[in-house]
Amino acid sequence: MAKTLKTKAKSSRPNDVACHSRPRAARNAIAVVIMAAGKGTRLKSKHTKVLHEIGGKPILAHVIATATKVVPAQDVFVIVGHEAERVREAVGATGVNFVLQAEQRGTGHALMAAREAIFGNKDALSGNRYDQVIVLSGDAPLITAETIRQLSEFHSAQKAAMTLLSADLDNPYGYGRVIRRGTGTRPPVQAIVEEKSATAQQKKIREINSGFYVFDVPALYEHIDRLSTKNAHGEYYLTDMAGVFHRARKKVVAFKAFDAGEVLGSNTRGEMMMLDVRLRLAKCRELLQAGVTIFYPHTCVIDSDVEVDADTVIEPFVQLLGSTKIGADCRIRSYSVIENSILGDRVTVKPGTIVEDSRVAAGAVLGPYSHLRPGSDIGEGAHVGNFVETKKMKLGKGSKANHLTYLGDAEIGEGVNVGAGTITCNYDGVSKHKTVIADGAFIGSNSTLVAPVKIGRGAYVGAASCITEDVPEDALALGRARQSVKEGWARARREAQKEKRG
Ligand code: UD1
Ligand code: CA
Repeated sequence: MAKTLKTKAKSSRPNDVACHSRPRAARNAIAVVIMAAGKGTRLKSKHTKVLHEIGGKPILAHVIATATKVVPAQDVFVIVGHEAERVREAVGATGVNFVLQAEQRGTGHALMAAREAIFGNKDALSGNRYDQVIVLSGDAPLITAETIRQLSEFHSAQKAAMTLLSADLDNPYGYGRVIRRGTGTRPPVQAIVEEKSATAQQKKIREINSGFYVFDVPALYEHIDRLSTKNAHGEYYLTDMAGVFHRARKKVVAFKAFDAGEVLGSNTRGEMMMLDVRLRLAKCRELLQAGVTIFYPHTCVIDSDVEVDADTVIEPFVQLLGSTKIGADCRIRSYSVIENSILGDRVTVKPGTIVEDSRVAAGAVLGPYSHLRPGSDIGEGAHVGNFVETKKMKLGKGSKANHLTYLGDAEIGEGVNVGAGTITCNYDGVSKHKTVIADGAFIGSNSTLVAPVKIGRGAYVGAASCITEDVPEDALALGRARQSVKEGWARARREAQKEKRG
């Protein structure tokens, strides 16, 4: 092989459409191109196919993550076209390069658009930048780095002009079929025939073209202009390069994927859903393998990037989304949805709890039916109970807010008891204000704390108080109407009524 493949992505660098020439010594011999410019007509969506989500992130993000395990991000080129700006925005942080294919005239045309980036400018001194280009499809996210490496190594060993990844599918409908010619168990490839152009005989071939290829860069760009648009779609098919090379007596070989499941694409919503199911079950298997218990895994929705430590138990119908990280020995009970949040060890999440963009320290207890909105920071061993809503707040170590409470824009110390029905009135109709409750304070039930307001250390707020002024340390604050009692009033009323009725 020309150069050893990288196993880790380098840190990102500014990504630019223009691919500037670099000194030969600094270049990597292998580039990865990801075709992602197409619209995805078969999805019947107004949005581009590669940004539809599976496993909790855009399909293209999965392909990029895999590509950058094989070569550094600076050697990955994403071909964008349909909704190019949205695509760049969605995956730009990965540090990959983008190449614009303004008009989408087929997969062959996509590689024509990448000529300068991959092969260099004929007139420039840069010469060709890469020796080998690995081509991936932005709509086929299950491919593994291991398979890509094997494909690349096979290509190098075979000294082929083109190597395609093939697979045997029980139902090959819709895919390009691999036409082999010659002798031996693995005769070389003569052509790839697309479903629409295949004869009845060819349609019976179960070996399909997966849409992943490796090309010798000079060979590709010396022959790519021989592609034509004389086919069912009037497009430049990259698949036709097999026939072009065959006629030019250049070697075309196919490498069969060990796991046919890896090559599945997502042209329709149905196919996309199947990929999502596969990815999530694979995620569950990975977590089970790592020591996490998941009951009824097929009912749980766990995104690809979620991390869970050993001995945590996940009950049925739980959703763990985005960049969520969960510690060890936690129990996440049914119907809880946790998104982009970090939970420490030994956290108990009782049923029906929603946690968004929040942090929960070790040993805390949440739920049932708590709603932690973004910016909630729950301290060690703290409790957030039934129908408690929190937002942009900190609840100190061991503090408790167990029932029917709203705590927003608040800073609550350690060992605080927030009684049932407490509300931080944080909004005056124009702006938000802060409530501060110091360590050891006791907030009686049904209190309204009108922010900005401070409750001092160890202070008491009497039940049903409306607190509009700061409460000093160790004080008792009562902010409610004094109770008056009228002795005998009820009896007198009953008697008066009886008299009236006669
Ligand atoms: C392609 C192959 C087919 C193979 C299948 C595997 C061709 C002609 N056919 O068909 O043999 O079995 O993949 O999944 O290549 N794209 C661009 N620019 C374009 C057109 C497409 O970047 O002008 C991108 C798309 O966004 C997509 C990828 O290329 O990510 C593949 O295109 P798609 O239309 O899905 O090809 P298939 O019909 O699936
Ligand atoms: Ca496809």
